[in-house]
Amino acid sequence: MSVISDKDGLRLPLEIPMNNSKFSVFGLLKPLLISVIGLAAVVGCKKEGGAAGANASSVTIGYLVKQPDEPWFQTEWQFAQKAADEKGAKLIKLAVPDGEKTLAAIDNLAASGAQGFVICTPDVRLGPAIAAKAAANNMKLITVDDQFLSDGKVMADVHHLGVAAREVGHVSGQALSDEMKKRNWPADQVAAAIVTFKELDTARERTEGIVEKLTELGFPKTKIYETAQKTTDIPGSFDAVNFLLTQHPEVKYWLVAGMNDTATLGGVRALEGRGFTDKTAIGIGINGTDCLDELKKTNPTPFFGSILMEANVHGHDTTVALIDWISKGTEPAKERFTGGVLITRADFEQKLKDHGMWR
Ligand code: GLA
Repeated sequence: MSVISDKDGLRLPLEIPMNNSKFSVFGLLKPLLISVIGLAAVVGCKKEGGAAGANASSVTIGYLVKQPDEPWFQTEWQFAQKAADEKGAKLIKLAVPDGEKTLAAIDNLAASGAQGFVICTPDVRLGPAIAAKAAANNMKLITVDDQFLSDGKVMADVHHLGVAAREVGHVSGQALSDEMKKRNWPADQVAAAIVTFKELDTARERTEGIVEKLTELGFPKTKIYETAQKTTDIPGSFDAVNFLLTQHPEVKYWLVAGMNDTATLGGVRALEGRGFTDKTAIGIGINGTDCLDELKKTNPTPFFGSILMEANVHGHDTTVALIDWISKGTEPAKERFTGGVLITRADFEQKLKDHGMWR
């Protein structure tokens, strides 16, 4: 386990397992590299040449998110606002559910005198168009969560703060396996429903990580059923899992997981619709922010827990980095990735409180 320094009291330990003998050397080193990159982002940044920009109090920036209805993004906004207030800068929060709204929002920001923006784009393939618009308006840009693609390749020149997706997937897979083993279910009657969204790299890597960890821990690959969500909301994951359940009436016990809480919640609702309960199904989400109503329910549902990640750090640190970049000319780290830890009904309240994310 490695820990990123917690000078703001916001950070979680990155509990990334490092004992997988199947990992390549790079695989073994990656968690360490992630921490080093994170530390570099916290501790020191390269100064750009030339004059620094305006004083922080004359800085205006935008924070654009693809799904403002998700508590994940509401948490990012909340901590972005906190950071902007601390710096005395102005923050404009905008919802950008599609490409048209995204490009219009950037024009509006420029017209409002904004010197930059943080964005989680609704479609990573918009990357080149967004970056071109930012450059045309002389605005600085940091991507958060979803990394831009150009011709299918990551746009490595755009500064990014995201999650260590595969490692977070491993934490989810470990939690599913641990909880299943506690239950002593008859192995031949158990299957795993993995809700996928392969169009988005961070989603694909998370679900690949879940499958990798499950198989490494002895879960039969033939019993892992992937099912694609067409939309990244609860109806999308509900439909994906419902389809699977129709195909596999023989399965008596299910594990269910996906790229975030929403993916798992839709799966859990589909399972409940077929009579599965917390005794016959185990769901693990990712985010830890969008499942709080579920975990607060008096009667347990199949949604067992989630991997809590750092929406607070994402919102806060991208905002600070962008304001400093504009006002002091301090270029942020090119890439930084954060991790996550398991939360369950037993400890979610405390863990969220500890990290200032209790709502
Ligand atoms: C994607 C997902 C969000 C959240 C972030 C975290 O954008 O859609 O729900 O998991 O990644 O980086």
